[in-house]
Amino acid sequence: ESPVVVAIDGPSGTGKSSTSKAVAVRLGLGYLDTGAQYRAMTWWMLTNGIDVDDPAAVAAASAKPSIVSGTDPQNPTITVDGTDVSAPIRGREVTAAVSAVSAVPEVRSRITELQRSLAAEAPGGIVVEGRDIGTTVLPDADVKIFLTASPEARAARRSAELKGKEAADLATTKEALARRDAADSGRKTSPLAKADDAVEVDTTELTLPQVIECVVTLVEEWK
Ligand code: C5P
Repeated sequence: ESPVVVAIDGPSGTGKSSTSKAVAVRLGLGYLDTGAQYRAMTWWMLTNGIDVDDPAAVAAASAKPSIVSGTDPQNPTITVDGTDVSAPIRGREVTAAVSAVSAVPEVRSRITELQRSLAAEAPGGIVVEGRDIGTTVLPDADVKIFLTASPEARAARRSAELKGKEAADLATTKEALARRDAADSGRKTSPLAKADDAVEVDTTELTLPQVIECVVTLVEEWK
């Protein structure tokens, strides 16, 4: 069997990560969370006192951190200069700053390069999730999926995810999501977008197992 490359894009709160991980486990593929890489870059900028609202400062520093992603879907890891950052990159500070950092072209070209080499090295194939995988990072991916959901469904899911940790009320969560999606869709360099040849799956009325089944079927049809 030839290795399959699956690109899964879409805004936050559509179930991208849960779906991508589960599909990778089911099909024995690697898994890459590209959002985690942008979050890791952002964590490094914040930790090192770089002004994230100054694109020139971010660009100048963007080559410094060494970001390493593990591609095992059962245990996805991410380190920056050898430090495990899986917990802090999910915090509110990083989430609030990540769209500004990931809009900087130098950040994108550096991280895109990492993503392409990880995808090329994955022996049995890989599921790569993000915002611009089908359009820019891996335009030749074998299967391209674009996940969507209503703003209400996305806010409810994100809220449930944050429960107990940094729980905010639904309206605040919805607003923060909308702000981040607008920034991600509106930036100049490889914005969040559906590739022309991606299959759009609206997950609003679907359960997670149903979304997983749908994507597994699309990959199996390709094989
Ligand atoms: O998927 P996640 O919410 O962790 O992504 C965090 C942020 O990283 C996004 O809001 C976006 O700004 C950036 N990102 C990106 N391109 C990708 C993946 C994520 O710009 N391929």
